[in-house]
Amino acid sequence: REGWTRWAERIHALAEERDAVILAHNYQLPEIQDVAHHVGDSLALSRVAATATQSTIIFCGVHFMAETAKILSPDKRVLIPDAAAGCSLADSLTAEELRTWKAENPGAMVVSYVNTTAAVKAETDICCTSSNAVEVVASIPADTPVLFGPDQFLGAHVRRMLGRDNIQVWGGECHVHAGINGDQLRAQAEGHPDAELYIHPECGCATSALYLAGAGAVPEDRVKILSTGDMVTAAARSTSRQVLVATEIGMIHQLRRAAPGVEFLPVNERASCKYMKMITPEKLERSLLELRDEVDVDPETAAKARGAVQRMIEIGN
Ligand code: 13P
Ligand code: SF4
Repeated sequence: REGWTRWAERIHALAEERDAVILAHNYQLPEIQDVAHHVGDSLALSRVAATATQSTIIFCGVHFMAETAKILSPDKRVLIPDAAAGCSLADSLTAEELRTWKAENPGAMVVSYVNTTAAVKAETDICCTSSNAVEVVASIPADTPVLFGPDQFLGAHVRRMLGRDNIQVWGGECHVHAGINGDQLRAQAEGHPDAELYIHPECGCATSALYLAGAGAVPEDRVKILSTGDMVTAAARSTSRQVLVATEIGMIHQLRRAAPGVEFLPVNERASCKYMKMITPEKLERSLLELRDEVDVDPETAAKARGAVQRMIEIGN
């Protein structure tokens, strides 16, 4: 820890010299979360990026998050410590595929999860994150058809919550969350009968969680479908002894900080995002020293995407 403290002092001094704010997603390595000026979910970090007073944003997360920051703050320098940190979910819908889908469904409104490329956002009416997806779709008149992409599990969650059958959902998924399955959840819930369940809506097991509640295996009020930021809020208020967590394992660090008296157990301890973990302390320091990797979005694409991203940060505030 002494080594970390010296490193953190160095990082903070460099950040000040560079007039930079360091943002970290909840799935980042603990050392990165602890050194960042702001830690949060995709929506909270987009809001910070939109209002930051510093001239440089260092995004410790994945590429689409840094791109979103650049769309919101085109005049700022946006850096990511490793530009190769991608996202399997963002890769599951291309702008070309979305244009074809739109052409097949004239009159539909397009809602895209923030886990998309800037080119997909440029073809989108409103973006959303897992914390406001339901509110975003609810803001669209009930008789207007909706194309929701790319995450099939988040899309299924929105359909379930709104009881709307005019929402078409793209078949994409995040390899990490899709890999947390119903069998693992059922086994863990049986092994920890008093535990609450925090389930990210990108999970393949979200439907199983509701099934367990419906079948009376877990009391309904103990099953919570939450974004990563909402998990931290719920943890801070929790009166449970144990919580089973179905999401990427980096999440456990913020949950333990928010509620040290609660035991947080991953439903699948191998659920680690290799892209999020590409951001290492060494690369963060290099990023500050060498001002790399700079993230740029071509101004025409950014201008087309900006409205959809701005609506996203306004809804559910
Ligand atoms: P949230 O932090 O918005 O819940 O998103 C989860 C995620 O998978 C980001 O990559
Ligand atoms: Fe993308 Fe999944 Fe990694 Fe999040 S956890 S960045 S959705 S691959």
